[in-house]
Amino acid sequence: MRLIAHLSDLHFGTEVHSIVQALTRDLKEAHPHVILVSGDLTQRARKYQFAQAADFLNQFEAPKLVVPGNHDIPLYSLAHRLINPLAGYHLYFPRDLESHYSDEHLMILGLNSTHPLRIRRGQLSHRQLEFMQNFFHKPHSHQFRIFMSHHPFMPLPRHFPRDLMIRRKKAVTIFEHCKVNIVLGGHSHKVHVDNLQGHYPLLKRPIIMVQAGTAVSRRTFRQPHAYNLIRVSPHQFTIETRTYVSGSFVGTDRHVFPRED
Ligand SMILES: [Fe+2]
Ligand SMILES: [Fe+2]
Repeated sequence: MRLIAHLSDLHFGTEVHSIVQALTRDLKEAHPHVILVSGDLTQRARKYQFAQAADFLNQFEAPKLVVPGNHDIPLYSLAHRLINPLAGYHLYFPRDLESHYSDEHLMILGLNSTHPLRIRRGQLSHRQLEFMQNFFHKPHSHQFRIFMSHHPFMPLPRHFPRDLMIRRKKAVTIFEHCKVNIVLGGHSHKVHVDNLQGHYPLLKRPIIMVQAGTAVSRRTFRQPHAYNLIRVSPHQFTIETRTYVSGSFVGTDRHVFPRED
């Protein structure tokens, strides 16, 4: 069994200290094998906000895999945004835009879907799609396959279609071809678990899209503070949503899926 914590939209700079403490306690108790963060680590891509996000994550021994979100590149300084948008991010998080993790049971790839010319919308480049295809192309392996980026691959409540990922159809074709099991994202600040088949009718097998809420930020858009714990077993996987209620995180929702690989 593998236990994965999926956090998103921490937006350090707008964090609530008591909720950060509650999340720290919950994660230390859960003791996940891997911690994933699907972007928007900061509110305004300030150096001190990246430092806070890094300090928070470095408390945990588990391997971490992080991708940037649209809030992790400068918004107001056009020069910084265009010339080196991830300069602040890279002070604290890995230089390569393709961060990945593999072990006996898991294969995880995270890609940067931000672009300096797009304020809210995400995109994956042709080069990234090719990298993804090569990374997941292990036809005889039974590792559980997870893809993570910040922006969504399907319309979400409260969001406009303009926020959808550019080249998403090509990406979904690769997910299907390479037996990706789940696709993780954030950006909407709302927990949402759905089958991509409902949005891509040509898909021949289920691919589960999991959006995490915001765990610690005041930017909740009237949603509860939440994150996900994903349990992967040989024959099924479970998405448990952990929600902040009266001072601590508790399990509030659970989706169980058979493994189709
Ligand atoms: Fe966000
Ligand atoms: Fe975002």
